[in-house]
Amino acid sequence: MSRNSPRHFLSLADHTDEDIRRYLYLSRMVKLNPTGFRDACSGKTLAMLFLKPSLRTRVSFQAGIFQLGGQGLYLGPKDIQLHRGETIVDTARVLSRYVDGIMSRMFSHEDMLDLARHATVPVINGLTNHNHPCQVLADLLTIDERFGRLAGLKIAYIGDGNNMAHSLLHGCARMGMHVAVGHPEGYAPDADVVARSEAFARRTGGSVLVTRDPREAARDADIIYNDVWTSMGQEAESQTRLEVFGGFQVNRDLMACARPSAIFMHCLPAHRGEEVAAEVIDGPQSVVMDQAENRLHAQKAILVHLMGVRF
Ligand code: CP
Ligand code: NVA
Repeated sequence: MSRNSPRHFLSLADHTDEDIRRYLYLSRMVKLNPTGFRDACSGKTLAMLFLKPSLRTRVSFQAGIFQLGGQGLYLGPKDIQLHRGETIVDTARVLSRYVDGIMSRMFSHEDMLDLARHATVPVINGLTNHNHPCQVLADLLTIDERFGRLAGLKIAYIGDGNNMAHSLLHGCARMGMHVAVGHPEGYAPDADVVARSEAFARRTGGSVLVTRDPREAARDADIIYNDVWTSMGQEAESQTRLEVFGGFQVNRDLMACARPSAIFMHCLPAHRGEEVAAEVIDGPQSVVMDQAENRLHAQKAILVHLMGVRF
């Protein structure tokens, strides 16, 4: 990793293209030879702060740090004092006196940045309302495994312009991919994320297309990606969202707009019959379980790089 590689892992926009490539290389090494890394975080403790629920992020980080010789400490929303008015700043400073790294899932991205600003140990973003970089690092690994390359491939993200859309825009544009987002009116990705990703793509030979037509987004894609219509924390909007997103389901018809060799990806958890038809997510084009597995390998690479004793 370059000497200037950020000491935190907060957004794929913060890392250089080369940095992301090195993270992917290290992920492949960790996946190929897990025993070679079994002492890489020996004696290290990772605090895992979760203000939202999780299956994949929680278990893959806990298993990952254990497999590297360290230990994970799960801290749910009721286990700490944030909900009783303790500040993010004090939480960051106190945790930094006890542990070697902090992995955190929070609502506000500003809170995540605050945590990182005041922690003296590395902070890893395990999802905010704004982005989800660990998921996309694992997704890039999965795509590279399937196609043997990233640059030049077209990925179509169908649905809400949310945290997943943002990290896919950043990460895929940095890797020279063509990123298309098909979203309903009023649910576009943030304009600044799109502008930043367009700038990355101009440099890497990729491109960015944002459209309200899911079929246009999906046309000739190598990868069709989607996510829930109602993200964590938006439960009160779920009825409205069911109506608004109705035409944005990934089903056999939409998959037919993509290349015959296209794969289907989803960060999970999924709702069959809503954003994706069961025939697609459970069909032969789906790679969702490889994505879920690769969370483990990619995050072990992040832990080794940021907290490792020997690397
Ligand atoms: N994809 C993902 O981050 O899943 P969890 O919310 O279960 O961690
Ligand atoms: N957009 C989803 C992603 C879950 C991994 C959410 O924030 O709930």
